[in-house]
Amino acid sequence: MKAIQIVDLSGPDTALREADLPEPEASHMLTPGSGVLVDVTAAGVSFPEVLQTRGEYQVKPPVPFVPGSEVAGTVRSAPEGSGLAPGDRVAAFPMLGGFAEVAVSPEFLTFPLPDELDDRQGAALILNYHTAWFSLVVRGRLTAGETVLVHGAAGGVGTASIQVAKGLGAKAIAVVSSDEKERVAREAGADEVVRSDGEWREEAKELSGGGVDLVLDPVGGDRFTDSLRSLAEGGRLVVVGFTAGSIPEVKVNRLLLNNTEVIGAGWGAYVISKPDLNREIGAELGKLIASGAVRPLVGASFPFSADGATEALKLIDGRGATGKVVLDVG
Ligand SMILES: NC(=O)c1ccc[n+]([C@@H]2O[C@H](COP(=O)([O-])OP(=O)(O)OC[C@H]3O[C@@H](n4cnc5c(N)ncnc54)[C@H](OP(=O)(O)O)[C@@H]3O)[C@@H](O)[C@H]2O)c1
Repeated sequence: MKAIQIVDLSGPDTALREADLPEPEASHMLTPGSGVLVDVTAAGVSFPEVLQTRGEYQVKPPVPFVPGSEVAGTVRSAPEGSGLAPGDRVAAFPMLGGFAEVAVSPEFLTFPLPDELDDRQGAALILNYHTAWFSLVVRGRLTAGETVLVHGAAGGVGTASIQVAKGLGAKAIAVVSSDEKERVAREAGADEVVRSDGEWREEAKELSGGGVDLVLDPVGGDRFTDSLRSLAEGGRLVVVGFTAGSIPEVKVNRLLLNNTEVIGAGWGAYVISKPDLNREIGAELGKLIASGAVRPLVGASFPFSADGATEALKLIDGRGATGKVVLDVG
């Protein structure tokens, strides 16, 4: 089968090569047992793959390896009792090996892909939307009627978080850095959009009537203290990632003064040993797809080649991506 490998740790411009590899077997997984073999039609590209080309992500397989955490495609074979059958359209999370014509995914991270979503949207579903649900609901305890401030709001996690928050009956305020990203955040459903280079903290306080209930932060960096200041009494700041590069530090007296919380949300490490939680989140997101609240925004798609994947990674690395970036595999 055709696949794209990371062959060295020289960065997104130069680390990718095409390879002709044997197809994986159903037991070729990072988790025990047999998985679902998927004929891949679309592969999602995300920030972790950029980091993996530099050896900077927490998952560090020896080179060469096939990256790609999530795909859409059709089931070729599935374990007994999985509820999946050959030919079913699915969104799947192989964790690695997704930049390939065939991938293998744990059954508890493989979900039927509803007709409402096309294959590219299927490749945009699991990482961002499960992270959004996990961060907002499981970790952040979001409830209907609350107000959420979403950083990096035109990105993959950001657009997903806006849609999940709106689907749950919350109000979403988006923080973005450009006109084009403002357009994307509004398309995702943001009620209000503020600019990261402007007076966003004051604007967020005003728009929320005194302070937001929850900040969802995949960006980190120097906006962290202002995020804490934008919270209402009892508000929560959920830490999701650090695209700005630096890892913020908290002066904990700020938490005491306004009775606020900083909460970590690491989706992958938490859910990998909890199949039932994955199924539960998948079912809840299924309801939001059915209601029309969840419609993944695919900002760019590229051909399935080393050059195409390189362009995809460079777009993300250069802060140019909006929504999800996808490779068209088959
Ligand atoms: N905790 C978890 O379980 C989990 C799960 C999935 C992803 N993540 C992490 O979440 C983060 C976001 O992922 P994503 O897929 O949403 O990424 P993305 O689509 O590339 O979006 C990231 C956003 O970060 C903002 N940003 C600010 N400073 C930046 C910089 N110096 N370089 C690049 N972007 C910058 C950009 O928005 P503006 O230009 O508008 O500021 C950009 O839209 C990543 O760190 C990823 O590893 C964590």
